[in-house]
Amino acid sequence: MTASLRKIKDDFSALHERHVLTPWVAQAGRKPPVIERGEGSYLYDDRGARYLDFSAGLVAVNLGHAHPAVVAAIAEQAGRIAYAPPSLGNDRRAMLARAISDIAPWDDGCRVFFTTGGGEANEDAIKFARTLTGRHKVLAAYRSFHGSAPGAGTLTGENRRWPNEPGIPGVVRFFAPFPYRSPFYTRDPREETDRAIAHLEEIVRYEGGDRIAALLIEPVVGANGVIVYPDGYLALVRELCTRHGILLIFDEVMTGFGRTGEPFAAQRFGVTPDAITFAKGVTSAYVPLGGVAVRESLAKHFDTHTLPSGHTFSGHPLAMAAGVATLQAYRDEELFARARELERRLRERFDALQRAHDVVGEARGVGAFFGLELVSDRATREPLVSWQGTQTLQGFFNDLLADGLYLYGRYNVAIVSPPLTISTDELDEGFAILDAALARLNA
Ligand SMILES: Cc1ncc(COP(=O)(O)O)c(C=O)c1O
Repeated sequence: MTASLRKIKDDFSALHERHVLTPWVAQAGRKPPVIERGEGSYLYDDRGARYLDFSAGLVAVNLGHAHPAVVAAIAEQAGRIAYAPPSLGNDRRAMLARAISDIAPWDDGCRVFFTTGGGEANEDAIKFARTLTGRHKVLAAYRSFHGSAPGAGTLTGENRRWPNEPGIPGVVRFFAPFPYRSPFYTRDPREETDRAIAHLEEIVRYEGGDRIAALLIEPVVGANGVIVYPDGYLALVRELCTRHGILLIFDEVMTGFGRTGEPFAAQRFGVTPDAITFAKGVTSAYVPLGGVAVRESLAKHFDTHTLPSGHTFSGHPLAMAAGVATLQAYRDEELFARARELERRLRERFDALQRAHDVVGEARGVGAFFGLELVSDRATREPLVSWQGTQTLQGFFNDLLADGLYLYGRYNVAIVSPPLTISTDELDEGFAILDAALARLNA
């Protein structure tokens, strides 16, 4: 590489620091690699270093990077028509909505409202629920993330909500089960479930069940620790919602499109919500896209009533083409089944890590979606850095990057959610790097 080209490339890092505002961090002194391209499970920076993408970006790039069929579909669409207003029809929009309906958990299918991301989808979903029920309260859990803008940020149950406060009215919060760090002082998952449901029932009683439009929940908690609910909890939530006429909305922004080994977590856990919000995996994150899938029996209300939402980029053709090609690739490569196979392989490797390193408190997950909870004391479960405290595990993540592994997480939980296309050799490579970094943490 010539000296002048090297200088230009070096400048990207400086330009970034000078002009780009990076989410959720203080800006000064960060020097992340400048990613220039990706291929399969790897990211490459401007210096030619490669990083195994063990989190699929932000739990999103389910197909791996630069999948040729999706790249070709986006290019083809850009050459044909890049934008068609939502009020007009579009071939790829119709195809993608149909494809989503085909894999959705409802026997009579669904209709889809497209957004540009997950947070917006959650805001639209609760707006639809309020319209459909004529009620205004919404139940949302602590330790949840539903997005960043004021509406979705208010639904979020952790400290990223705080800058939005007082936020939108009507959001009522509850605790969901978390067996490893029980908010209900239990050590038994069944007891945890019983108490969590009794707590939710109590909240509904005090808020007035007939005033609550919707309950929004991540069927597997994502950014807040990859928490898999104990067996039966989601089914009991479904039953409670049905009894009170509350619409159940699954936020499947992370879990959707194969992450748990089924099209949606709804199918994985055998619980059918009234609506599903999605984003990320729908295009494998190649083009920004989110949406709300509303079961047909509810969506038909809007045949004779105005749909109370709209966005310039709703159903953007580039995103639609990416989505159609992505869903086709999931089908052709049988990647939802592959996520179930990955679950077995990941669990074996995590069990080995847990045996080898005291710093691993718990490794939990489902499908190709695992969280590694790091502790300073296994017996007391003291977190390695405290949840919502001032410290992070950025040093650990930087250490992994230096060894060629990209991983992200929040406080003391690292999220392992590789592309569903990852090979066994690549898994082994990633776990070897993780093993060495955990040994250094243990020391
Ligand atoms: C479960 C969940 N819901 C909503 C969102 C927000 O999605 P977006 O960042 O596309 O607005 C996220 C983002 O990570 C998420 O994990």
